[in-house]
Amino acid sequence: MDVLDEIQSFLGCPTPDAWLQAATQDLHTLLIDHAHCEQKAAATAMSLMYRYPNHHELLIRMSRLAREELIHFEQVLTLMRKRGMEYQHLSASRYASGLRDQVSKQEPQRLIDVLIVGAFVEARSCERFAKLAPLLDEELQKFYLSLLKSEGRHYQDYLKLAERYAQADISQRVAEFRLLEQQLIEAEDDQLRFHSGTPRSVAA
Ligand SMILES: [Fe+2]
Ligand SMILES: [Fe+2]
Repeated sequence: MDVLDEIQSFLGCPTPDAWLQAATQDLHTLLIDHAHCEQKAAATAMSLMYRYPNHHELLIRMSRLAREELIHFEQVLTLMRKRGMEYQHLSASRYASGLRDQVSKQEPQRLIDVLIVGAFVEARSCERFAKLAPLLDEELQKFYLSLLKSEGRHYQDYLKLAERYAQADISQRVAEFRLLEQQLIEAEDDQLRFHSGTPRSVAA
């Protein structure tokens, strides 16, 4: 799948093996947080639609994206219920807030930054689904492989929108967020989340 190759070179680092190990050992937490992520992804897309009503291309792509994320959300919930896992509140990981902190407060840069952050979040999700899939049972494996396609497309949507509305070269800004994202993924983390860093207990 070539979008996966593109994503792997877009990201500054691969997911650490220690994270994969921790994630497969605590599927309940992983799935709760995965459901949260889908919900948040839909909310982010909706908030962009409210904020930029005169950006036609953004409205169309974000509307479609929000619908897809909500379908993923329902799919995770169904899967959890089937396994007797309860959905519950979970504190957010430092990943999203770490990325958000670097988003400009001023337009027009704010929009470009939010779109670049969206591309990284989607790209990392896609990379993790691909890495997790072979380590999971058949049902989850099938589900995660099915998500690869849409998350790969979401990554491309965000990046294309960032390029379109920036009307200038964004590679420098992308590189800054790449480095930040890499730091958030490689640094030690106390809690397991879908986008958490290297688990502290097994960190080298
Ligand atoms: Fe999704
Ligand atoms: Fe997505």
